[in-house]
Amino acid sequence: MCYLDNAATTFPKPQRVNDLLNSIAQQGVVSPGRGSHALAHLASDAVSRVRHRLARFFGAPGDNRLAFCFNATDALNLAIKGFLDNGDHVIISSMEHNSVLRPLRAMQRKGFITLDIAQCDKNGCLNPQEIISRFNKSTKLVIVSHASNVTGTIQPVDEIGRAVRDRGAYLLVDAAQTAGILPINMDDMCIDMLAFTGHKNLFGLQGTGGLAIGNRIGLLRPFREGGTGINSITELQPNEWPEAFEAGTPNVPGILSIGEGLQFIEDEGIAAIRKKGAEQLGYLWNELSAIEGVELHGLPPGSNRISVLSFSIRNWEPDDVGSVLNHNHGIYVRTGLHCSPLAHQTINTYPAGTVRLSPGYFTASIELETVVRTIRTMAKTLLPF
Ligand SMILES: Cc1ncc(COP(=O)(O)O)c(C=O)c1O
Repeated sequence: MCYLDNAATTFPKPQRVNDLLNSIAQQGVVSPGRGSHALAHLASDAVSRVRHRLARFFGAPGDNRLAFCFNATDALNLAIKGFLDNGDHVIISSMEHNSVLRPLRAMQRKGFITLDIAQCDKNGCLNPQEIISRFNKSTKLVIVSHASNVTGTIQPVDEIGRAVRDRGAYLLVDAAQTAGILPINMDDMCIDMLAFTGHKNLFGLQGTGGLAIGNRIGLLRPFREGGTGINSITELQPNEWPEAFEAGTPNVPGILSIGEGLQFIEDEGIAAIRKKGAEQLGYLWNELSAIEGVELHGLPPGSNRISVLSFSIRNWEPDDVGSVLNHNHGIYVRTGLHCSPLAHQTINTYPAGTVRLSPGYFTASIELETVVRTIRTMAKTLLPF
């Protein structure tokens, strides 16, 4: 088996994450913040420690400004629905994921907001000028993914952040693909809200993620209400952060697994993790670009990108490539639009999409060699003579 779909979810997880999950499976874990007994306190303290570490990891202004959510989609929905008001104007890039596009399109259709899309180039690169030129007097929020899940392109977030701030608006960054592999400091990068997911490069379980909220955000409405373990007497959602945003029992095993993931990242070093990704990308790019009939999408290695590599094979549908790799070779990749139709329109691979290879920290060189060999053979088949 050769798993090359780490951009969807990282697999396997570091041993220390598996050890923690095994111990939770055997010993259990109770609900945090919802009882005064010792076990509830233990769970609360453990969750608070992970919150503290994550807030520090992203440079969030305080632990109360790190709200746990159930994934990046949940965090993006909180940021978008909790922050925007009737009549606001929003600008996004043309590389955004459906988790950004769909909530906004629904609000736009209801006439609640207006929306503009800043065009990226064929490699998925966003020129900040494309954002700036779309500003109007109602522009409140700009949303940009830190790196694309289709081309791996890293956007100039800090430059965009400064431009957005100078114009009195706010920047929401989708860090689903970058949290854990690129250094992020909200303050330095002028990020007002940062949505992340726990199950990709933070090496946690699925069903985890969060929103880090910068100091400039004064008002954010919860979009999910219910029990929070505090102020139970009031019939309305409490105002205290982060509890206001965390109604319902959280995914405690998942949150704790992120803590172990963070420890792993700190032990290995984020620079070493990125370096390994860059080497894997360099190998795949060099080998695949030499194959006749294979087209690689996005920037070459050594430029502003992460190791998510989309490609197409002449005369092959991406889904057929994925199916043959899966059924005949035990190689698991992602095909199609990757929940990002706008991105494929941008790079001219719409509607069929691409085949996406996303190696991870635990991918061995021999796995990459196998996939290259297999693609070489496939590219020869069906090529016109
Ligand atoms: C760029 C980007 N944004 C958002 C998401 C959504 O993440 P999740 O499925 O964890 O909510 C993904 C997931 O692939 C992604 O790649």
